[in-house]
Amino acid sequence: MNVCIVGTGYVGLVSAACFAEMGNDVVCVDVNPHIVEMLNKGYVHIFEPGLEELVARNARDGRLRFTTDLAEGLADALCVFVTVGTPSKPDGSCDLIYVHQVAAQIGQAMTSYKIVIDKSTVPVGTADQVREIIAQELRKRGLDLPFDVVSNPEFLKEGDAVNDFMKPDRVIVGTDSERAAKHLEALYAPYARSREKLIMMGVKSAEMTKYAANCMLATKISFINEIANICEMVGADVREVRMGIGSDHRIGYHFIYPGVGYGGSCFPKDVKALINTAKEYGYKPRLIESVDLVNSRQKLMLSNKIKNYFADQGGVKGRTLAMWGLAFKANTDDMREAPSIDIIRDLTAEGMRIRAFDPVAGDKARETFKDNPLVEIFDEQYGALENADALAVVTEWNQFRNPNFTRMKRFLRAPIVFDGRNLYSPSFMSSEGFAYFSIGRRPARPE
Ligand code: UDX
Repeated sequence: MNVCIVGTGYVGLVSAACFAEMGNDVVCVDVNPHIVEMLNKGYVHIFEPGLEELVARNARDGRLRFTTDLAEGLADALCVFVTVGTPSKPDGSCDLIYVHQVAAQIGQAMTSYKIVIDKSTVPVGTADQVREIIAQELRKRGLDLPFDVVSNPEFLKEGDAVNDFMKPDRVIVGTDSERAAKHLEALYAPYARSREKLIMMGVKSAEMTKYAANCMLATKISFINEIANICEMVGADVREVRMGIGSDHRIGYHFIYPGVGYGGSCFPKDVKALINTAKEYGYKPRLIESVDLVNSRQKLMLSNKIKNYFADQGGVKGRTLAMWGLAFKANTDDMREAPSIDIIRDLTAEGMRIRAFDPVAGDKARETFKDNPLVEIFDEQYGALENADALAVVTEWNQFRNPNFTRMKRFLRAPIVFDGRNLYSPSFMSSEGFAYFSIGRRPARPE
């Protein structure tokens, strides 16, 4: 099938490469000539395991091309995926300017039947707007070409996106057109191998499904974080509680790891956008608002522990904290809404110095903190520990799971670890001579 993908960001590029991998002819369109030039040379501007090989192989075999010219991309395409950015406005609502622009350009350039597919996460009702904009542009041209608008939200996790696309839990297709449904069924058949995985529904239900899924997942995280905070106070261990509740198959073990709060490009934005949509309709979504509030508080749990620890020793001013992990989660270089940003802002506001290391996000972090003279980013995991008063672990990279504890003690000024991801066992840390503070478990003192 001939496919056009508009927007070579995270979702667009992964989708394009994965469609091409199954033999489809894919043209990607992006307004940024620099990105298009890099991609045509085989350089991928996004860090995602497995993506570069996939792009390179399919580009070499001629199934994947990149251009800045939307009309060229549209010419032969039957399916046109809209995967442009949908940033948040200051009030938390979703800014649809790019989606609307692309819709207008499609209406101005199309010359035959097209299935226009919203893949970006967009508020309920966006497909109707896209349909109206395209129809308006066609009217201006005096044309009456047929087209369909479909909602097909993505559920890709950064760090595992290729796998998620190739072996999805489900593919959601929202359409009221049999013609569009038939083509999308054919396009997705190699991925959604069993029929139950392809879920057809109305357009608005598909748009809503994406928000409901992300808000449900965010709710699980805020829930377990709240339980963790209570566990800590009453002297329970949240790891044990997680095992205890997860064993009930109605609850399950997945996605209930406590930590420093959720970040990334999806959860924070989507939770706020759904709150906004509900309010537009005059409904106050109390639970989802609380999910957001609990998360904002959770992001500062670790820095509060650090400040409390040093409170009776003159505070954190003038002290140095080593930090392992800056990206919002492991296996990505993404710093968007990363809890590390809130933690660092909170501590440096009180005069604490930060020596941070991340296996992949170092360059993006340098950019993020370029105006903060108290933050230094290191390229070496143990080098960041030198002369620091304590270590904070903020992202769960595998290389932090089993580090050289003797080396850590040699570099750190004092053997103190604040662990925002519960990577270590309190009893082990205590036997190794560390003061150890984690999430939802009692602190451990050095033996
Ligand atoms: C998420 C959704 O999983 C995906 O389906 C959607 O399309 C986009 O948003 P992503 O943002 O890549 O994907 O990351 P995810 O792995 O879901 O983690 C989100 C955040 O939650 C991270 O900050 C992570 O550290 C945190 N998290 C996740 C927890 O704190 N505890 C958990 O148990 C799981």
